[in-house]
Amino acid sequence: MKTHDICVVGSGYVGLVTGVCLAELGHRVVCVDADRRKVKTLKNGKMPFHEPGLQPLMVKNVKAKRLSFATSIAEGINPKGRRASVAFIAVGTPPRADGSADLSSVEAVAADIARAMKDFTVIVDKSTVPVETGAWVDKTVRRVNKRAVPFEVVSNPEFLAEGSAVSDFLHPDRIVLGVSSPRAEKVLREVYAPIAAPILVTDVKSAELIKHASNSFLATKISFINAVSRVCEAVGADVTLVAKGMGLDKRIGPSFLRAGIGFGGFCFPKDLEAFRWIAKQKGYDFALLDAVTAINDGSRGWVLRQIEAELWNLPGKKVGILGLSFKPHTDDLRFAPSLEIIKALKSHGVSVAVHDPVSMTKAKDVLKGVRFAKDAYDCAKGADALVLVTEWPEYKELDLPRVHRLMANPVLLDGRNFLDPAAVRKLGFVYRSVGRP
Ligand SMILES: NC(=O)c1ccc[n+]([C@@H]2O[C@H](COP(=O)([O-])OP(=O)(O)OC[C@H]3O[C@@H](n4cnc5c(N)ncnc54)[C@H](O)[C@@H]3O)[C@@H](O)[C@H]2O)c1
Repeated sequence: MKTHDICVVGSGYVGLVTGVCLAELGHRVVCVDADRRKVKTLKNGKMPFHEPGLQPLMVKNVKAKRLSFATSIAEGINPKGRRASVAFIAVGTPPRADGSADLSSVEAVAADIARAMKDFTVIVDKSTVPVETGAWVDKTVRRVNKRAVPFEVVSNPEFLAEGSAVSDFLHPDRIVLGVSSPRAEKVLREVYAPIAAPILVTDVKSAELIKHASNSFLATKISFINAVSRVCEAVGADVTLVAKGMGLDKRIGPSFLRAGIGFGGFCFPKDLEAFRWIAKQKGYDFALLDAVTAINDGSRGWVLRQIEAELWNLPGKKVGILGLSFKPHTDDLRFAPSLEIIKALKSHGVSVAVHDPVSMTKAKDVLKGVRFAKDAYDCAKGADALVLVTEWPEYKELDLPRVHRLMANPVLLDGRNFLDPAAVRKLGFVYRSVGRP
């Protein structure tokens, strides 16, 4: 196997996983990040965020001298007498107020790579970006690249999911390479050679669109089943059975058909908005995506509707929130449904207690005016209602009779259809879940 020197810029959820996994595949990798504190944490062998299985792999590859960290892109591109043949861009592309993606970090990193590169460099965009970003990166590099060092810009979107990122990276469903020449394709094929996954080679624009279209389609599936859950609630049908019956159809498939209080996180909401925005710029009104977002926004309202249905007036009521991260097995709170729900509850005069198995430290930075419970039982203490927002496996193991005894009013709202309705009701809870009788 031919190994490469690789620089990965951006050491967040995607960049760090990419860097660690590429080192695990045998390449020599420098992970760069502009955040000095993050780089210091990484150099000390610690993790700046929670991702199962990542830390031991990181420590192993640092020890094997295949992985190191830096704050400067120049150092990452030219590490001690060597030259990176591949530079990944894995920085954030957050949403701007109008829904478009903020690509200023991508531009800044592209320019820094252009200044630092000395030999043919494959510049790989791994961040999720709107179509035609590759052309802009190419233009930026050309402008800065005064010495005319040869390079090619490639789109290689990342499909990993937080919480299972290491396994997703090493065992993906597919690897998409949006290239302009066989030369760059060859390099990227060498980089991914140890991974047994189909490789789809496309042009750059198609690769960029594959990522936006995939995330938008998955979000559409979630909103579709959430809309179906509203009909189920209205007629007393069970959305889990409806989803099961749909999912058995091979043309539909069972994944992403779990009704609940909707999607959040750093990807789906912003990628939907960005896809909608770029389509509009190009003259197409992708109205379906608006409906997907509107259904998702509406699905948060389920919590307030259920609390009002059980407790009547909201002011002065006490509600416990179980689960803050946008999904289990991550501490990521970006665009987490919990934050919107807590905000809405507080604006209605509800006192809120919160618990999460891993994101309490991060939550203390972003949540004010709530009680941070020491465990799930403390969260239930004195509550008029308990809302399960994130389906952490430990919540399935709760001693529910104890929870029942601790609550002022045993109302359990399951926003993820995670618990068994009959078992919970048998314990004396008033139990409500999404689209299930
Ligand atoms: N998080 C996911 O599950 C996921 C999955 C697939 C794709 N993506 C996409 O990957 C990209 C990165 O997402 P993330 O979740 O890893 O973000 P993140 O915020 O966790 O990480 C981005 C990192 O880039 C660093 N950075 C920003 N500007 C920089 C610069 N000029 N130089 C060096 N470092 C810089 C930041 O300090 C940060 O550590 C986004 O486009 C996202 O949409 C994310």
